Amino acid sequence: MNKRVSVSAPGKLMVMGEHAVVYGFPCIVTAVDRRLTVTAEATGTELVIDAPQAKDTRFVEEAVRQVNAAGIVVPDGMRIATESAFSSSYGFGSSSAVSVGVVAAIMALAGEHPDKRRIFDIAYKTVLAVQGVGSGFDVASAAYGGTMVYVKGGGTLTSLAWKGGEPVFVVGYSGVKADTATIVRDVAAKRERYPERVNRLFAGIAQLVGQAAEAYAAGDAERFGKLMTFNQEYLRDLGVSTPKLEAMIDAANAAGAYGAKLSGAGGGDCMIALVPIEKKAAVEAAIRGAGGAVIVVATGAPGVRAATTDDQDELFTVVDEQDNEVGVRTRSECHGDPTLIHRTVGVAVFDSAGRLLLQKRSMTKDMEAGLWGISAAGHVGVGEAYEKAASRELAEELGISAPLVFRTKFLARTPGETEMAAIFTCTSDGPFTVNRDETDRTDFFTKDVLVRGMLSGDIRLTVSSEMALKAIGFL
Ligand code: MEV
Repeated sequence: MNKRVSVSAPGKLMVMGEHAVVYGFPCIVTAVDRRLTVTAEATGTELVIDAPQAKDTRFVEEAVRQVNAAGIVVPDGMRIATESAFSSSYGFGSSSAVSVGVVAAIMALAGEHPDKRRIFDIAYKTVLAVQGVGSGFDVASAAYGGTMVYVKGGGTLTSLAWKGGEPVFVVGYSGVKADTATIVRDVAAKRERYPERVNRLFAGIAQLVGQAAEAYAAGDAERFGKLMTFNQEYLRDLGVSTPKLEAMIDAANAAGAYGAKLSGAGGGDCMIALVPIEKKAAVEAAIRGAGGAVIVVATGAPGVRAATTDDQDELFTVVDEQDNEVGVRTRSECHGDPTLIHRTVGVAVFDSAGRLLLQKRSMTKDMEAGLWGISAAGHVGVGEAYEKAASRELAEELGISAPLVFRTKFLARTPGETEMAAIFTCTSDGPFTVNRDETDRTDFFTKDVLVRGMLSGDIRLTVSSEMALKAIGFL
């Protein structure tokens, strides 16, 4: 059989600092949980590209050239296929995700195990060769993932963690595809003509980005939202906003967002709003009312990596809010559509001293990779009872069996999905056998140690685990 490699790279959202970043100022970018998958197969004949989005083909061809130019011996004949979970119209950075994905896939096919810096450097050269302009923030996001402060060329990459979880962003698509390269060139022409004025705007934006990075680390949503709104004022002055984006931004703010702004080059594409979780539905409705389409994404997604260990075609039962069965859908459909409520179980395992076992999710999970989660958790299969699923997860994830106590069942709404979550508890001192594909490590925590870790930002729990631990009164 031909050697075959699959990798996936995330799309991105510019959070703050667009345009200024092209001139060497910092920006904040976050990777989103919509991924593009690249499969490269050594076929021994010619190069065959199977890219459904036509413009991707140029990036694939150029990425192959750039990997060769970097002195890596790539197979003579390859079939390279791309498959995206997001439209190239949203401005989520499909070209940079393609470039990063292809570079990583063919390097792996050539037997190289490059670090992210090398992937970034080659992919950034690819994007510049095809597009001619760009700060590379989108390439960095696809390569490294997470949320970060980025400075052009990758000189500064500081990863950011929102204190106490992930912030809640709502994303609205204006329905208009922006031509980033043209807008970046227009801004350059404006800067030639009015250097002082435009440089002053960029310096102002840079100052906001610095303050925003601090507010992000502090989890200060009110301040972060205000800074986003100030950033939008500068972008408006720069002339890159549009009446449609303004209408969506105004609507989001009027519906209770902490702040909102356009995201990316402007001229169309998307806007983002930072919102209190309880105002999320109202803000989404307001954006729709202003003619936008809401795109549900979770932020801080992992960067390029070998294709997920989760089976995206696994079937889940879909239920209504009273837990009545209403249909069957795939994992990939349920993850990303909060109207598709699906059943999950969580088990909190306590040792005989009353400490709670938590597990750190592996970086290859398709959702919330790297965060800490409840002792064992998983989806309920079609036709499976909650308690059966809980016992199965205990055995699969921790290698134990223990009598379970049902504690509660609740609707867990998170930015990307909605679960009907049943929570069980049990007691066990182990030993535990963890599956390294799913879990990086496990640890027991007293309540005090956990709360302190969460406050300092050292421990980041998945949103649903935090809800489950609150539901059983541990937090
Ligand atoms: C486009 O999404 C963001 C810009 O800052 C361009 C870039 O950084 O490459 C306008």
